Amino acid sequence: MKNYSILICPKCKSELERKDSSLVCKNNHCYDFAKQGYVNLLLVNQKNSKNPGDDEIMINARDLFLKEEYFSKLKDEIKKQIVGNNLTILDAGCGSGYYSEGLENFGNLYLTDISKIAVKKASVNKNAISFVSSIFELPIKDKTIDYILNIFAPKPQNEFLRVLKTGGKIIEVVPGKNHLKELKSLFFNENMRENEEKFAYNELFLQKTNKLTYKATLKNNDDVIHLAQMTPYWYKGAEKVKDMLKNVNTLEITFDFIINIWSIKM
Ligand SMILES: C[S@@+](CC[C@H](N)C(=O)[O-])C[C@H]1O[C@@H](n2cnc3c(N)ncnc32)[C@H](O)[C@@H]1O
Ligand SMILES: [Zn+2]
Repeated sequence: MKNYSILICPKCKSELERKDSSLVCKNNHCYDFAKQGYVNLLLVNQKNSKNPGDDEIMINARDLFLKEEYFSKLKDEIKKQIVGNNLTILDAGCGSGYYSEGLENFGNLYLTDISKIAVKKASVNKNAISFVSSIFELPIKDKTIDYILNIFAPKPQNEFLRVLKTGGKIIEVVPGKNHLKELKSLFFNENMRENEEKFAYNELFLQKTNKLTYKATLKNNDDVIHLAQMTPYWYKGAEKVKDMLKNVNTLEITFDFIINIWSIKM
């Protein structure tokens, strides 16, 4: 049985209940499930554009690349950080929901992203509750979440502090300084990131930092292009590099991830 009881109405903040194919609050605000199984809880005034979040090219590229499992070690590492059962887990800025696949076995899993295209993809996980919302204004009750997955996504410290239970944790993944350095150097003639983003949650306690670094060889041109299209390099980079990449069929790439586990200060 899916548990909708942590969800609140984005308009009046009262509890939402499932009625047939909608979520409804006591003030009769009603949100219908799409045929794919997700629900849109993002109000028009919470959007800063018609299609907020990552664009379709980026979302499709990330989805296709992740399906090739180059990042399965990261996915396993994330799963290892989760301890317990009957947990409430939120993948916030979930994209296609790749990293939270299987986490429904720990309890109730919620997937959210501001991009409808992303949530549509994430809603293939029929064991999770998927909804469109902004990570900065989550339609979720206070102190209801045990774990938040925050994987390459925005970092709304106050909103996460509001929804986390006492003892709740954030599993944050950010790129390390060598992440995709070979790809970056093709675009920008440089290969180091300036800073590792490390202190996003200064009101929480950084319980643990794990680094995960390995090299992989991309096995065909689709993988090369999809990886490039997942990054800001593709959008900021020169056309001549993009054209050159269209003829690259293999590429050795460094993956460098930092996994930070944050908990609420006692
Ligand atoms: C780099 S992608 C990462 C997606 C996913 N966590 C993954 O690693 O595959 C960042 C995601 O954050 C989403 N996003 C951006 N701004 C957001 C916001 N204000 N609220 C919710 N999601 C947001 C984007 O639409 C995008 O899907
Ligand atoms: Zn309402």
